Amino acid sequence: MSKPKVFVTRVIPDKGLELVRDFCEVDLWQEELPPSRAALMERVQGIDGILALLTDKIDGEVMDAAGKQLKVISNHAVGFDNIDVQAATARNIPVGNTPDVLTDATADFAFALMMAAGRRIPEADRYVRAGKWKTWGPMLLLGTEMKGATLGLVGFGRIGKAVARRASSFDMHVIYYDPTERESSSEFNATRVDFETLLKESDFISLHTPLTADTHHMINSEALSKMKSSAVLINTSRGPVVDLAALYDALKEHRIFAAGLDVTEPEPLPPDSPLLTLDNVVLAPHIASASQATRDKMAWMAAKNLIAGLKGERLPNCVNPSVYQ
Ligand code: GLV
Repeated sequence: MSKPKVFVTRVIPDKGLELVRDFCEVDLWQEELPPSRAALMERVQGIDGILALLTDKIDGEVMDAAGKQLKVISNHAVGFDNIDVQAATARNIPVGNTPDVLTDATADFAFALMMAAGRRIPEADRYVRAGKWKTWGPMLLLGTEMKGATLGLVGFGRIGKAVARRASSFDMHVIYYDPTERESSSEFNATRVDFETLLKESDFISLHTPLTADTHHMINSEALSKMKSSAVLINTSRGPVVDLAALYDALKEHRIFAAGLDVTEPEPLPPDSPLLTLDNVVLAPHIASASQATRDKMAWMAAKNLIAGLKGERLPNCVNPSVYQ
């Protein structure tokens, strides 16, 4: 019997790729950069399944280019704003994602950015390397302390809660605002507040919300103007949740203390981005989930979703379960 045909849009860890190879005939995109739109449109033709990354825009046009036999779209990420889920549902195609397995790695990284930006670690590293370190200085590179600080979480789902759990052992006071209006939760002694209160009261603000029309540029000049001048803003969610032009102005004029960004708009940041000139921002190339163990699990889970869809079984993690009704 011939194997189902799939397009895998980048080399992923073997833990997932081997599973896919066992079950499918694989067309693997081997380049370091994602397929262009034209390449994507061409390579999907006639496939039964696609294993995509968050860098691939999978919309109705791509689904139609694939053809009516397309049975499943599996995203190698927990976020799925790169996929037009409505278009997939309209075509009865289940879409899979990789929740849970990356929660702790991402929460660790959000915490690492809080400490790196709050305690100015990359700036201190640059200072030492530049030969500027002359003596122990009572006022040298002073930063923000965690203990007793108020941490405001925007989004109190899996990752937001994992950050709250870490914050409780640092004796932080945790408040949260959840734009998706999940049910209230008092886990980890966190208190639900409105967005305005969160902006005004937080010493650290960490974003853990999906990108939707409602959260696009949620952190804009108005939101930034309500934050404390000592506030540290952390984004490990999606770049477009923050208006980077407004953030640049706020950081440059020291209207907030610092920021730590794992995600930006666009990605990658252009080499002439003014953010790169600032000392009070810590930047990372979208690596919050990038531990070997987590990426192995994500690849495995993305493979499981793909294979389930090809077999006509329910995906272990499906973002549009209405396709099964
Ligand atoms: C990473 O950003 C993911 O959504 O998995």
